[in-house]
Amino acid sequence: MARGEYSIIEDAAILTDGARIAWIGPRGATPDIGECEVVDLQGAWVTPGLIDCHTHLVFGGDRSGEFEERLQGVSYADIAARGGGIASTVRATREASGDALFDSARTRALGLLREGVTTLEVKSGYGLDLANERKMLAVARRLASALPLTVRATCLAAHALPPEYAKRTDDYIAYVCDDMLPALVADGLVDAVDAFCEHIAFSPQQVERVFRRAGELGVPVKLHAEQLSSLHGSSLAARYRALSADHLEYMTEEDVIAMAQAGTVAVLLPGAFYMLRETQLPPVDALRRHRVPIAIASDLNPGTSPALSLRMMLNMSCTLFRLTPEEALAGATVHAARALGLASTHGTLEEGKMADFVAWKIGRPAELAYWLGGALPNRVVRGGAEIDFGHIGA
Ligand code: NIG
Ligand code: FE
Repeated sequence: MARGEYSIIEDAAILTDGARIAWIGPRGATPDIGECEVVDLQGAWVTPGLIDCHTHLVFGGDRSGEFEERLQGVSYADIAARGGGIASTVRATREASGDALFDSARTRALGLLREGVTTLEVKSGYGLDLANERKMLAVARRLASALPLTVRATCLAAHALPPEYAKRTDDYIAYVCDDMLPALVADGLVDAVDAFCEHIAFSPQQVERVFRRAGELGVPVKLHAEQLSSLHGSSLAARYRALSADHLEYMTEEDVIAMAQAGTVAVLLPGAFYMLRETQLPPVDALRRHRVPIAIASDLNPGTSPALSLRMMLNMSCTLFRLTPEEALAGATVHAARALGLASTHGTLEEGKMADFVAWKIGRPAELAYWLGGALPNRVVRGGAEIDFGHIGA
C-alpha cells in the first residue's frame, strides 16, 4: 500500500492481466511473469482513470438563451417557474429521437474520455414519462457499448414535474413509483435512483416515497440536495444509506454528521455553483472534520452546468471551494467510484481492480487541477487496453 501525499509509488510498474490490474508496485520489485508485452510510459505520472460521478449528458437542445437571461438578472427559479429551465430541456428531449440523443451524448462523452474519464454516470430526468425516460436510459447503455467507457445509468424520473401533471405532484410521484421505476428496473436500465429535493422540485416526503420504492426494487439511491435551500434532503439520503448526496451548498452540520454516519459520499458540483453565481459555499471544513468523502463531478447539463471538462471542475473545486489539488483528484477517482457503488472495482490502482488508468506527461500531479481545461498530453488505458483515439473518431 502506497503512503504519503497522493499515495505515490515512485518509479512504479503496473502488471495488467486482461481488464484487471494483476500487480502494482516499485518497478524493481516486479514479479517475474515470463513473456509479456512491456510498455514504457517514459516517466509519465499515472493516475486511476478519472470518474465523473454526476452528469446529465443525455439531453436535447441547449439553454444558451436562458444563460443570456440569467446574465440580465433573471433567476434560475424564475425561469423554472415560467416553464423554462428543466421543462424546456424536457420538451427538446422528448422531441429528439434516440439516435439524435445518442449522437450528441456520444460527442460529449468522447470529450470526457479524451481527457481521461474512463467511468461516468448518466442520469435520465429530461423524459419524465416512461417512454422518454426509457429512451434516455437506453442511450446511456448504448454509450457504454459504443465507447470504451464504464457508464452507470441513474433514473432521475423525480427531477421535475412534467406539464401533464401540473399541480398534481403527488400523482406524478405515484406514477414514478408504481409504473416508471418497476418497468425501467425490469428492463435492466437502472443502476441507481436519484431525485431532486428542492422547493422548485420535490419535497422530502415525496422523495422518501421514491426512495422506499427503490429500496423495494433493490436499487441504491442518491439525491440532489441542498442546492438552492435547506430541506435536509442530505439527512434523508443518509437515512436511506444513499450512495451520495450531491450539490450540498445549504447543508447543515447535522446533515454532515448524518452523512458521515451513513458513509454517504458528498458530491460537490462547482460547475453549477459557478454558473448560477451561487455565493453560499458547501461546508467543506465540516465535511473534512467529520470525514465525509468528498467527490467532484461535472454535473454536465444544459442548464446549470454546461461543463464539458472534468479537469476544469478539479480546478474550480480548488479555486471556488478551497479543496487541495490532492483532494480534487481523490474526488474524481476514489471517492467518485464510491459515489457510484464501484469502490471495489474502480477509483484506485490496486491489484484486482480494473486496469483503468491515465498516463500524464506532466511534471507534478497538482498540474491536473492547475491547468484551466485544454488538452493535457496523456495516454488513456481502459480495461487493460490503450485507447486509440484516431480509431474512435471525432
Ligand atoms: O444538477 N438540480 C437539478 N438538476 C440539474 C439541473 C438540470 C437543469 O437545469 O437542466 C443540476 O443542477
Ligand atoms: Fe445534477
